[in-house]
Amino acid sequence: MLNQVEEASSLAHADLHKVTSLEELESWRVRYLGRKSKLISILRSLSNLPLEERRAVGARANEVKSQIEALFTEKKEEIERCASLTLQHDRIDITLPGEPFQLGRLHPTTKSIKEICDIFVSMGFQIVEGPEVEWEYYNFEALNMPAEHPARDSFATLWVDCETETGARPMLMRTHTSPVQIRVMEKSRPPIRVIAPGRVYRYEATDATHEWMFSQVEGLAVDTNITMADLKGTLFEFARRLFGKDRKCRFRCDYFPFVEPGAEIAIDCFMCGGKGCRLCGNSGWIEILGAGMVHPEVLRGCGIDPEVYSGFAFGMGVERIPILRYGIDDIRLFYGNDLRFLKQF
Ligand code: DAH
Repeated sequence: MLNQVEEASSLAHADLHKVTSLEELESWRVRYLGRKSKLISILRSLSNLPLEERRAVGARANEVKSQIEALFTEKKEEIERCASLTLQHDRIDITLPGEPFQLGRLHPTTKSIKEICDIFVSMGFQIVEGPEVEWEYYNFEALNMPAEHPARDSFATLWVDCETETGARPMLMRTHTSPVQIRVMEKSRPPIRVIAPGRVYRYEATDATHEWMFSQVEGLAVDTNITMADLKGTLFEFARRLFGKDRKCRFRCDYFPFVEPGAEIAIDCFMCGGKGCRLCGNSGWIEILGAGMVHPEVLRGCGIDPEVYSGFAFGMGVERIPILRYGIDDIRLFYGNDLRFLKQF
């Protein structure tokens, strides 16, 4: 009988290691302390035993019973403690605001280039690109600005030292995107409809309205029977798509050596509707583009017969668009890399 008590005790100890939950603990308790358990039935049948044995077995059985009861309480507390710890650790307050993701975004210049290009692409223009380090020939000469031409003065130029196998050839950082016109006309035949976005450089001290690097988009269309009316229609449509369908456009004479006639195109101020305000310098008009009919000399220089073909060209500054739209008062912000500025777009 004593053996059976010992056996029940060691089984109960061994089995307890497998218990991990309150439910398992309860069945463990039933197994070793329940009414039908070995230990309890021994205790119940003690009266049938001879006196000597009854004493010995009874004492031991009661001892084991209290041990098992103590084990039960201890294990129960342990399981409950673990559960509450895990809960506390894993607790999530779903009412807290989430952590914001740092999303990347497009630079305002890139956005404007995309917007401008999308409009012209929808009109059938093709996007092309040219080099930023350019030969003097493309930047000036082929655009009807031979050496000593006074118009060169309006393009403060960053010159690049360049030695080639055939001797020195003047090179520069392109001062405008117009040289891409020449590269396109040299390589392809009309009909031509291209736009060329890109960076341009000027040798200039920087201030709120001047930057040594900025962006332009150039446009060129060459075909038979292209007239000033095509230029006007295209640029009217562009201005309205970009600045709103009620915009008025003003065309005025201007001079650029590579076009004849040349024009400066302005829209009525979208802030004051033409009455005059700070944005338009009280004039009611905002200049957005230079344009004109491609000069016959320029066409001829590219091997395109001006007697057969004609074309129009235009060029615009890109940063000017977000500057006007958002009232940005310092162009240096565009390449200053200040996230407080860039994150606003
Ligand atoms: N390239 C000129 C500039 O940077 C802008 C321009 C004017 C481009 C007239 C043109 C044009 O194509 O026809 O000031």
